[in-house]
This record gives sequence, C-alpha cells and structure tokens, in this order.
Amino acid sequence: MHIEFSRENFDKLSEYIYRKTGISLSYEKHYEKLKKNLELRFRVLKIDSFRKYFFLIRFEDKNGSEFQELISTITVNETYFYRERYQFDVLVSDILPEIHSKKRDGENIRILCSPCSSGEEPYSVALYLLEDNEIINKRDIELVGIDIDNKIIEKAKEGLYTSRSLHLLSDKERESYFGKKMGNYEIIKDIRDAVDFRIVNVFDKDAMRKLGKFDVIFSRNMLIYFDDASRKEVATTFHEMLNSGGYIFLGHAEYMSRIVSIYTPVKISNVLLYQK
Ligand SMILES: C[S@@+](CC[C@H](N)C(=O)[O-])C[C@H]1O[C@@H](n2cnc3c(N)ncnc32)[C@H](O)[C@@H]1O
Repeated sequence: MHIEFSRENFDKLSEYIYRKTGISLSYEKHYEKLKKNLELRFRVLKIDSFRKYFFLIRFEDKNGSEFQELISTITVNETYFYRERYQFDVLVSDILPEIHSKKRDGENIRILCSPCSSGEEPYSVALYLLEDNEIINKRDIELVGIDIDNKIIEKAKEGLYTSRSLHLLSDKERESYFGKKMGNYEIIKDIRDAVDFRIVNVFDKDAMRKLGKFDVIFSRNMLIYFDDASRKEVATTFHEMLNSGGYIFLGHAEYMSRIVSIYTPVKISNVLLYQK
C-alpha cells in the first residue's frame, strides 16, 4: 500500500512521539521505519490518510493501544542477561549490604529497573541475588521492572529467551535457572514470579509516583535516546523516587553529571554510580 507520508507529516508525528515519550527521532534514521509501520497500520485500520491516522492517535485512541503499536516500532529493546555485569557485582558486594545495614527490621529493599525491556536486567539482578544469597537470607528484596513498550513487557513476563540473550551465563546457571522450551530457554517460575513487571512511561509522573520509593534504580541505556531536557526531567523524577542515600546505576555511556547536579557521584571498584 502506498501512503502519503511527507517530511512535514514525519515532523508532526515525531514531535508528538517526543512529547509523549521523550524519544527524539531523526528523519534520516527513522523515516523509512515509521513509513513501513504506517503502511501496515493504515491497512489494519482501513484508513487512507495521515490526517485521519494522526487524528485517531491523538483523540480516538482511548486505551492507548494504537499508540503502543507505534511505540513498539521505534523503541530499541536490545538487552541481554548480565549486561554490564560489573554493576551487579558492586550491587551485591557493596550497595545492598550498606542499604541493609541502614534499614530497620522488617523493611524491604526495593530495586527498580527502569527501563527493563524484555526482562533480562531485573532477572539478572534476581540471579545475582540467588548466586550470592547473603542478603536474601536476611531481608526481603522487591524487584520491579517497567517499560513503555507493552509488547516487550509481555515478553518479559513470559520469560522465554534465545541462547543469544544468555551468552554471558555459565552452563551451570543455564541449567539451574532455565528450562528448555521449543529450542529456547524459559526462566524458572520462581524467578519469573520474583519480578513485578509493569507498563509505565517514565514521563508519566503519576504512574511513576505510584510505584513508590526505591533504594536502587537501574536506568541503563534509555537516556541515550532522549535529548537534554527529557534526560533532566527523568533524572529529577528518579531522584524523587529514591530513598535518601539510595543509588542509581546508568549505562556505561550515560553520565548524570552532564544532566543534573542533584546526585553525588560515587566510585566503587571502578563502577560509577550516583547517590541521593
Ligand atoms: C535498550 S533498552 C534498555 C534495556 C536495559 N535497561 C538494558 O540496559 O539492557 C531501552 C528501553 O527503553 C524503553 N523506553 C524508551 N522510552 C521509554 C519511556 N519513555 N518510558 C519507559 N521506557 C522507555 C524502550 O521501550 C526499551 O525497551
């Protein structure tokens, strides 16, 4: 199906996406991908012009499902188990013992993975906690994973992965924590149940607030897709969501000091993290 998708229409749509998600698209990189997606959606929705589509997505998409179709085509969901694992080492060796020592009896430790994509990151934290079970024997740890992309959250809940996603795991870890299903690896139910996955847009302040306060936030490899104003907004939201003394881990190409100065940078075993 040939559709009329001019530069002007691209700019309108990408401006709308930016306002809703903080993701900034470039014409050179994203035009073809968006056009392909629109061709498909026009067919499914039986509409024949960008004007109608743009109206629908802004005013008639009450449950947000059409917007989700759009989001799924532009988000970069690349992730895998034990990505930047040196951060998980520091989490279990230094950060969690410190937080544990400051908490009262009966208080949980809460960890947020924002964004979590298809779940490998929060599941990696769960595996690390099981492998080094010092802390989980002493205190309950709550793991929450959020992402804007509803399809990727479904995948996270399903917990089914290809071997590519598991390439950093040892054979023993694969055998202990995964079952084989149709040639893929399914994470065991106990670990699946240990993570609370939700569809949340980090720019939706109400939804973010409702998640409550956290001791540790992982926000890796999302801020790179935002511009400075959006990064600042999200970094400030995370700051409000952290308990005092809590920590945030960013991806290796992301630096809080370039965004806001409300966090204290801390270096532990060469890992840079930020404390409230
Ligand atoms: C590259 S993945 C990072 C996953 C994981 N943290 C990692 O480092 O492996 C980036 C994720 O950010 C999510 N994302 C983008 N914009 C978002 C937003 N406004 N709110 C929540 N998640 C968002 C995308 O859907 C995508 O799954």
